[in-house]
Amino acid sequence: MTTLISVEQLTKSYGEGDNRQTVLRGIDLEVKEGEFVAILGPSGSGKSTLMNILGCLDGYSSGRYRFGNKDVTGLSETELSLFRNERIGFIFQQFNLLPRLSARENVELPLIYQRSSKAERQERTRQMLARVGLSDKMDHFPNQLSGGQQQRVAIARALVTNPSLLLADEPTGALDQTNGRQIIALFHELHAEGKTIIMITHDIDIAKEATRIVHVRDGKIEKEERVR
Ligand SMILES: Nc1ncnc2c1ncn2[C@@H]1O[C@H](COP(=O)(O)OP(=O)(O)OP(=O)(O)O)[C@@H](O)[C@H]1O
Ligand SMILES: [Mg+2]
Repeated sequence: MTTLISVEQLTKSYGEGDNRQTVLRGIDLEVKEGEFVAILGPSGSGKSTLMNILGCLDGYSSGRYRFGNKDVTGLSETELSLFRNERIGFIFQQFNLLPRLSARENVELPLIYQRSSKAERQERTRQMLARVGLSDKMDHFPNQLSGGQQQRVAIARALVTNPSLLLADEPTGALDQTNGRQIIALFHELHAEGKTIIMITHDIDIAKEATRIVHVRDGKIEKEERVR
């Protein structure tokens, strides 16, 4: 399988002088195309910090990060945000939908940034909302949707640009078990279709749904384990 992501000796520190705190201390990680990887670790271990770096939302202090055949280190802010919009879909614990936009408008937004035609935007938005089982809720606003439905809108928004990588930070963290299961079932379908998924969690049962678990502790990879 082709390597999608390759991280070598990645470190991240915050602050200066006496306040300097090293949060990631030499992470080595490789993710192949089509893998479903869970990053598991206790609170404060550096999971979100790592996710923000992998998602090109944040820079790192030292080390190397390659995405596909691109060395991310050399990219300017503008190049980075273009790259991010094209290649990466994000899902967050708190859904992060825009409250004044309907489900349809939330999903359409990344396509507007990509300057797709209106007809294409509408068609892809409709398809994606159908894909997550929300054809009948397209004109609902986030506050008219349950948590599970909001997260499915967020997944549709993350996937509408057909990104190479889906990055999810505690995607089931704000959901009850039934809704959490639905989101995981959707991840399994996406994985079966060939999507590469990296999911952050502190829940071992959720992590076991992935094909590989990367255990993070104190900013380091403690061990990796194949699930199946
Ligand atoms: N912008 C920042 N400035 C300073 N320190 C930060 C910043 N962001 C994160 N940290 C610190 O980095 C460490 C790791 O935080 P991070 O959010 O990556 O943890 P996490 O594993 O995602 O935890 P949780 O499971 O609680 O979400 C914490 O000690 C946190 O205080
Ligand atoms: Mg976190």
